[in-house]
Amino acid sequence: MWIHGKPVHPLSTLPLLVMDIVFCMAVCNNAEYDINGQCCPMCDSGNRVYKHCDDSTSTTCVSCTEMRYTDVPNGLTECLPCFVCDASNGLRVKQVCNWTSDAVCEPLPGYYCLDSHGLHCSKARKFSNCLPAQYINQTGTEFRDTVCGDCPAGSYSDGTLCKLYTKCESLGKITVKSGTDTADAVCRDGKHWYILPLIFSVCGVFVAVVSVTVVIIVKKKRVYHQTNQVTHPHNPVNLNHFPAHN
Ligand SMILES: *[C@@H]1O[C@H](CO)[C@@H](O)[C@H](O)[C@H]1NC(C)=O
Ligand SMILES: *[C@@H]1O[C@H](CO)[C@@H](O)[C@H](O)[C@H]1NC(C)=O
Repeated sequence: MWIHGKPVHPLSTLPLLVMDIVFCMAVCNNAEYDINGQCCPMCDSGNRVYKHCDDSTSTTCVSCTEMRYTDVPNGLTECLPCFVCDASNGLRVKQVCNWTSDAVCEPLPGYYCLDSHGLHCSKARKFSNCLPAQYINQTGTEFRDTVCGDCPAGSYSDGTLCKLYTKCESLGKITVKSGTDTADAVCRDGKHWYILPLIFSVCGVFVAVVSVTVVIIVKKKRVYHQTNQVTHPHNPVNLNHFPAHN
């Protein structure tokens, strides 16, 4: 093992290393990093170390390549990979990644964040659907799932809204089937359901009888007239009866 370019027995290194760390943390300032006991100037965010400094030259930095970033001054020899906002994790890009900042993801529409660090979301899940006999008490948000509530007694739902059962009796009808969690009551027309059709039928029959009677009377009259005309024609025109002017 080598420290500061000199060979050291492994067993004697522990206290030395501790001292070294303390020493270096004390010596390297905020804009420097420690590499092998030497303090080198950091690279700016958006860059990384290409070559560590030595006694004669400062740190050599290069900028990060595509899909990699460093968001703070650093002594890294590789930029960090950008987070991928993957639709299979229920995510989409809120802020694209560039050299100096990581991507920021947000839940897809209709999804909420399962795992968030500040504004960063790393996994999202689809909003739950409320079950039949439940209603949506609170719609989901970016950070919270849908909140469902149970429908109160006397109502039913398809999972969105509770609707009260139809009260057949108050409509003058009869309950054929009472309501369930998911379906309304079924009504049938009540005791006097036949009255209206009966009135219509009676009216219909009356109209028919009257019509038929009228038709028969008119026809009979016509036949009578025609026979009358043949035997006793009205206004007979007989020129022979005109008095002659002499
Ligand atoms: C990188 O993105 C951050 C956040 O959107 C923005 O503040 C910054 O200006 C961008 N930098 C570059 C070099 O485009
Ligand atoms: C529905 O939401 C209200 C507030 O919006 C709350 O007081 C109530 O407890 C909720 N009910 C259920 C079943 O979550």
